[in-house]
Amino acid sequence: MALSVVGVVLCALVSVVSSHGYLSSPASRNSAWRFGFGTQTNYNDNELYCGGREVMHSQNQGRCGVCGDNWRLSEPRPHERGGVYGKGVITAQYRSGQVIPITIRISANHGGWFEFRLCNNNNPRARDSQQCLNKQLLTFADGSRGTRYNLSRSLRGDVTVHVQLPPRLSCTNCVLQWTWVVGNTWGICSDGRGKVGCGPQETFVNCADIQISPKRGFQKPTTTFNKNKNNFLYPRVSLVASVWFAGLVATIERDLKEDVLQTVVFLQRESIPDQDLFIRGGISESLRPPGCSSIVESDPCAIDMNTNLLGTIQHYEKYNAWRVGDTRLDWSGAQPGQDVYQGIPAEGTPLVWTTNNVLSPGYQELNTFGEHYWMVSMDMNCTQTEAGWFEVKGYLTNTMDNWETDIAQVGG
Ligand SMILES: *[C@@H]1O[C@H](CO)[C@@H](O)[C@H](O)[C@H]1NC(C)=O
Ligand SMILES: *[C@@H]1O[C@H](CO)[C@@H](O)[C@H](O)[C@H]1NC(C)=O
Repeated sequence: MALSVVGVVLCALVSVVSSHGYLSSPASRNSAWRFGFGTQTNYNDNELYCGGREVMHSQNQGRCGVCGDNWRLSEPRPHERGGVYGKGVITAQYRSGQVIPITIRISANHGGWFEFRLCNNNNPRARDSQQCLNKQLLTFADGSRGTRYNLSRSLRGDVTVHVQLPPRLSCTNCVLQWTWVVGNTWGICSDGRGKVGCGPQETFVNCADIQISPKRGFQKPTTTFNKNKNNFLYPRVSLVASVWFAGLVATIERDLKEDVLQTVVFLQRESIPDQDLFIRGGISESLRPPGCSSIVESDPCAIDMNTNLLGTIQHYEKYNAWRVGDTRLDWSGAQPGQDVYQGIPAEGTPLVWTTNNVLSPGYQELNTFGEHYWMVSMDMNCTQTEAGWFEVKGYLTNTMDNWETDIAQVGG
């Protein structure tokens, strides 16, 4: 029996800081504090530029710390493993061979290009190594097999690219390195001509600690959750199965409002007849002082959403009944006014059993994983999340231990 979760919430957020950029998803060592990882706060997390252009190119002969620190600083440098920000805190989990979205939050766009590298660094005592990172220059998942992303100068805010993880690489601690060589300085190009963007440029480097599980089997989320504290935080791009974007979902024919984005949650769970799966979730009590409220309509921890229709045949009957009147993702059970199905009340936001088998009534296009993936699709108001983050946990009916945490996981 296995239960795993994929929660994806995509929110367009514009940074309020006035310069540069950082790797925000997966959260980098410098920015992880913004996303609730309890790492050291770094207010200058958008300035990991090797000490600046002058320092890098004039003083350090073009050298940079592996994770963007001034090369001169003694090792481990602050953002390197063993440094004050390099504590090995995993900020995202993926699976081998997965196509993953990577988001860079840009506050001042100077053009140039990005590259991404990956190093399996499971040994907690090992230092970060550029040599190791150079062995896995990641390719983009657009079919081009390209490794360099040219940043259009017109982009602001979050820039998301999709890269392909290597098919057979798994690791408990991999380092993902983002490099941004900006293009705002005039210099001599390789063909001998002078041009803006050629020659030594300001360079940003960020590192993120991530985990990649083997293709088969599911990994236990690293964050433990306490049902009383509701502290099971899913990153906006949490992994375990796959990730996709509202914009690519052809079945949605409406234009969603700007701050409302489709969010799909899958829970993998083999169940017996008469068992149903729900989710509860929202934002942690600690992030919404003075706290959550049991009155769902005004609960500051709840998030406005509307569930989407996934089918009209009998298979979707329960889901469709329990969907009615469910307007918020919250920590309580059924909302007042939420429909009951043949006398059975909802226990939260309903999920429906789905499969990737096209012949089954439970077939859903977004399920590219297999059988027993319970699913809900919500149009969620992302401005009510914490910078794109929200929490969710599964609740199974007709069992001794209803909550997700109490269910044994396999294959991790
Ligand atoms: C990115 O820019 C470089 C330099 O202008 C160019 O040679 C390259 O073809 C561009 N790559 C893509 C994918 O557009
Ligand atoms: C989303 O939530 C924000 C904050 O509560 C609110 O101001 C906004 O009107 C909501 N958007 C929609 C489309 O309901």
